[in-house]
Amino acid sequence: MSVATNDTARQSAQSLTLRDLVKTYSSRGRDAVTAVKGIDLDIRPGELVALLGPSGCGKTTTLRMIAGLETVTSGSIKIGEREISQLPAAKRGIGVGFESYALYPPLSVRDNLLYGLKARKVKGAEKMVESISDRLEMNDLMSLRPASLSSGQKQRVALARALVRNPPVLLLDEPLSHLDASARNRVRRELKVLQREFGYTTIVVTHDQVEALSLADRLAVMDGGVVQQFGTPDEVFDDPANLFVAGFVGEPAINVLPGVARVHDGRVHVEIGSGVGSLATSATTVADGTAVTVGVRPQDCALSDRGNEGLAATVAYFEHLLEFGLATTTVAGIEDGIVVQTPAEQSHEPEQQVSVTAPAERVYLFDAETGERLR
Ligand SMILES: Nc1ncnc2c1ncn2[C@@H]1O[C@H](COP(=O)(O)OP(=O)(O)OP(=O)(O)O)[C@@H](O)[C@H]1O
Ligand SMILES: [Mg+2]
Repeated sequence: MSVATNDTARQSAQSLTLRDLVKTYSSRGRDAVTAVKGIDLDIRPGELVALLGPSGCGKTTTLRMIAGLETVTSGSIKIGEREISQLPAAKRGIGVGFESYALYPPLSVRDNLLYGLKARKVKGAEKMVESISDRLEMNDLMSLRPASLSSGQKQRVALARALVRNPPVLLLDEPLSHLDASARNRVRRELKVLQREFGYTTIVVTHDQVEALSLADRLAVMDGGVVQQFGTPDEVFDDPANLFVAGFVGEPAINVLPGVARVHDGRVHVEIGSGVGSLATSATTVADGTAVTVGVRPQDCALSDRGNEGLAATVAYFEHLLEFGLATTTVAGIEDGIVVQTPAEQSHEPEQQVSVTAPAERVYLFDAETGERLR
C-alpha cells in the first residue's frame, strides 16, 4: 500500500544546496575547532544522499546547521531558491529524525505521531500513521509512552515522526544505529521505499558503509570537515578520488602498497617493493620513476600459478570463508601483504608460489605525498 496518496501527500520535491558551508565552534578558554571546512553539495529534488565518514568528521554538525539547530559560521544553505541559513529552525520546513529529538512524554506513541498532523488538520492522518507504523514494524509500540521504549524503539518512533511531518527536506542522523541486525535490514529497505513514495529530499548520516551504499542515490564521503568525494555508490567504489576514499569504502579494505611507476611502450606499470614483475595500470599522466602509492582491491585481484604475468608473490595464509576465500600473500620488500579475494571453490596453501594480477583499470595510483588520485 502506498501511503503518499492522501492529501498530505507528495509536494513538489525541492533541491538542497550547500555552498562553502563552514562551522567553527569557539568557546572561552578553549581553542576554536573548525568542524566543517567549506562544504559544497548540490542535492537534487527527491534525492537520497548519504553522508559517510569516520567519527568526528563533521557529519552531525553539517546536519544540525541545515536543520537550524546550530548557527552557521559562514556559507549558504538553500532549499530550492530560498536561502534558509539565517531562519529559525521552525521556519525552515525540515523534518529531523535525530535520536535526541523530543517526543512528548505524556502522549502515547500513536498520539505523538498524530500530533503534528492533527494540528495541521491533515485529512487521513490516522490512516497514514497506521500505515507507517505497519511498515516500520511498530504496531506493538503505538499505545506505549516514550519513556518505556528501548533505544531501538525510540529510534523507529523518531523516524516515523520525521516521515509523517511531510517536510520537503528530511534529515536523519544514524537513523538505524540502535536496531538489531535483522530489523535494521528490513527498516532500511522500508525507509528507502517510503522516501521514494513521499519524494522527500533526504540526507542520511551514517558511518556504516553498507547502509550508505544500499540506501543512497549518491554519497558524500567526508573526512576532516571536508567532502572528499560526492558521487553514486558505483562512482565512489570504482573511481575513488583519493586514497582516503579508496581506503574508507570497500570491505575487505583495499590493499595500499608503495610502488614506482615504469613506462614501457607508452603504458604505465607499477613495480611494488623489490618484487619481481609489475602490475599494469591505465594511468596516462605518470612519469617513469615516480614514487606512487598503489591501491588495488582484494576483489579485483586474482591468483594464478607463478608465471610471467603480474607480481610474484607467496601465499602466507589462506582463509576459507563461506562465499569466497581470502589469501594473504607476501611480496619481497614490502611490509604489508597483498590480500586477494578468491572464488569459493579455490584453495591455496601457505608457501605456494603465485602471481597476483588485476585488470589495469582497477589498479589505482595515488600521489605518494598527498594521496590525490593520479590518472
Ligand atoms: N558543541 C561543540 N563544541 C565544540 N566542538 C564540537 C561541538 N560539537 C562537535 N564538535 C567537534 O566537531 C567535530 C565534528 O563533530 P561531529 O559531531 O559533527 O562529528 P560526526 O561526524 O557526527 O561524528 P560521529 O560519527 O562520532 O557522530 C568533532 O571534532 C567534535 O569534537
Ligand atoms: Mg554524529
